[in-house]
Amino acid sequence: SKKNDFSGRKVLITLGPTQEAIDPVRFISNHSSGKMGFAIAKAFQQRGAEVFVIAGPVALDLSQKGFQVTHVSSAKEMYAAAAKLHANIDICVFSAAVADYAPLEAAPEKIKKQDAELTLKMVKNVDIAFELGKLKRQNQIHVGFALETENEEFHAKAKLDKKNFDLIVLNSAREEGAGFRHDTNRVKIFHRDGKTFHSELALKSEIAELILDEVKKAPVWI
Ligand code: PMT
Repeated sequence: SKKNDFSGRKVLITLGPTQEAIDPVRFISNHSSGKMGFAIAKAFQQRGAEVFVIAGPVALDLSQKGFQVTHVSSAKEMYAAAAKLHANIDICVFSAAVADYAPLEAAPEKIKKQDAELTLKMVKNVDIAFELGKLKRQNQIHVGFALETENEEFHAKAKLDKKNFDLIVLNSAREEGAGFRHDTNRVKIFHRDGKTFHSELALKSEIAELILDEVKKAPVWI
């Protein structure tokens, strides 16, 4: 039975969006609901793993039995939380939609409406998966995600390589019923060694089980 095939494994899952403050009342973010990552976390927990969740701001009730949850807001906070846990983790799943840029500085007071235009200076955020990918040990498995709108396979494979993932899960921001917010998703999975897997459109809970099955096909899985 599959029931305990991840027993004894420590799994870290980043999920949800990040929020990057513009001022005390405004932020830059994206449409991630956290549903995909939550489904993966539940699947790992049900299959025996010890689950550590690092969640951006989501509307989900993450207080599941057996989850150790860290709530964060910005990419910087998500990175700090992930870096703290990484050394003791067997499998990392980077399903969060991390903002690539953040305002250079959050204004200390609410920005007043004045001119017709407002220019915000943005700076690049830390790439969590990339930085932890540099620290990945021989016996650790990193699972990335790619959310694309064009040239999807090309960009996904480039990210697989650049961020040192063992496998990457590609989903489309353009496909109906897939990607952000939906209860369903359709994914293509690319392994580092060239293996691929294409799913049907299915519930995120079902996609999560398929992703776990693919994790076990990584050459470093023992
Ligand atoms: O949350 P849902 O509403 O259920 O939607 C699920 C999802 C669409 C958010 C999820 O399936 C998904 O695709 N997550 C990754 C979204 C994303 O930001 O992809 P990306 O192509 O920009 O990033 C590539 C990878 O690097 C991802 O694993 C991402 O977590 C990671 N990354 C990116 C930027 C950054 N600064 N740090 C990172 O760790």
